[in-house]
Amino acid sequence: MGLVPLAFLQRIKRSDTMYNSKITGLGFYVPDHVVTNDDLSKLMDTSDEWIQERTGIRERRHVVGDSDTTTAMGVKAARIAIERAGIDKDEVDFIVFATLSPDYYFPGPGVLVQRDLGLRTVGALDVRNQCSGFVYGLSVADQYVKTGMYKNVLVIGSELHSRGLDRTTRGRGVSVIFGDGAGAAIVSREENPDKGILSTHLHSEGEHAEELSVIAPGMGKRWVTDILRDNDPDDISYYPYMNGQFVFKNAVVRFSEVILEGLKTNNLQPSDIDMLIPHQANLRISQFIQKKFGLSDDQVYNNIMQYGNTTAASIPIALTEAWEKGKIKKGDLVVLAAFGSGFTWGSAIIRW
Ligand code: UT7
Repeated sequence: MGLVPLAFLQRIKRSDTMYNSKITGLGFYVPDHVVTNDDLSKLMDTSDEWIQERTGIRERRHVVGDSDTTTAMGVKAARIAIERAGIDKDEVDFIVFATLSPDYYFPGPGVLVQRDLGLRTVGALDVRNQCSGFVYGLSVADQYVKTGMYKNVLVIGSELHSRGLDRTTRGRGVSVIFGDGAGAAIVSREENPDKGILSTHLHSEGEHAEELSVIAPGMGKRWVTDILRDNDPDDISYYPYMNGQFVFKNAVVRFSEVILEGLKTNNLQPSDIDMLIPHQANLRISQFIQKKFGLSDDQVYNNIMQYGNTTAASIPIALTEAWEKGKIKKGDLVVLAAFGSGFTWGSAIIRW
């Protein structure tokens, strides 16, 4: 058989796919332990005023001891999503797990979810795209469901940041921002082509990889043995580094671009958006996007004030919460958008 002509492939449009996909179940879990800005100001030179003014964050959740892990939180969120999707766990065909804070260096948490939820020997894929991990994961699930390969895909975003933060004045630019938690979605087959996930849009710019990164332990620059050998109290290579202002400037541009790209693909306008769920990076970023697109407070959902930035978990937590509060209704146009380390960014356009 010869090669498939390119012109033929280019003619394959959404309407030619066998199925559409939609989110049928959502769940989230955050640890009970609340850490306020005042709690942090006892550990480092910071203040409630600085944190709220620069980020909008009032409090976040931190795992205490070994009560929860990234996988365990993901499993809790997943159980709720599976139940709400109205399926049996044996109907889950595939797992996509997005995190930057896995339980182990390897294997990734996807297989731990397969084990801990007692799923059949379904495939498990780990996504390493940080803040845009959930949108990337959703996009993977969307493609598998649209092609007909799978009927129900479990997508999880979960993060346990607190154990890996520098909670001293040295690390204050980063450590006040991040929180722990997990969110999950079931992406299922949908026959109606006008309903569900209409499109997803993914991008990266590795030129800025180190601007928001944890470089150690890694096989590239510094492995655990190097850290132990040097035994250097000033070594901060294993703490997150963020060039905050540079990330901020890129975020506002990329968020806007990728939302517009998604809308344009579907012949929609910003005014068609019923609910925008931005990755909860910084309330100031969300407010900038809201203003730029002329959206009202009811058209943008933010919960960074309560949970901080939970990276790959922030969108599924916010989406679940917005849905639970009745802020997302049948027929609504829901837009998800994320930007973060990599840099990577993406959006998903969903007809609920
Ligand atoms: O989720 C992935 C994507 N992430 C983002 O999009 C985050 C983007 N960036 C940001 O949100 C902001 O850049 C931050 C919230 C991280 C920082 O806010 P900023 O307004 O950019 O502050 P800055 O880093 O420029 O720091 C301003 C000052 C500095 O002091 P000097 O040099 O002016 O004396 C910092 O040392 O604030 C100081 N500072 C703090 N002060 C009190 C930094 N962190 C803190 C803190 N408390 N926690």
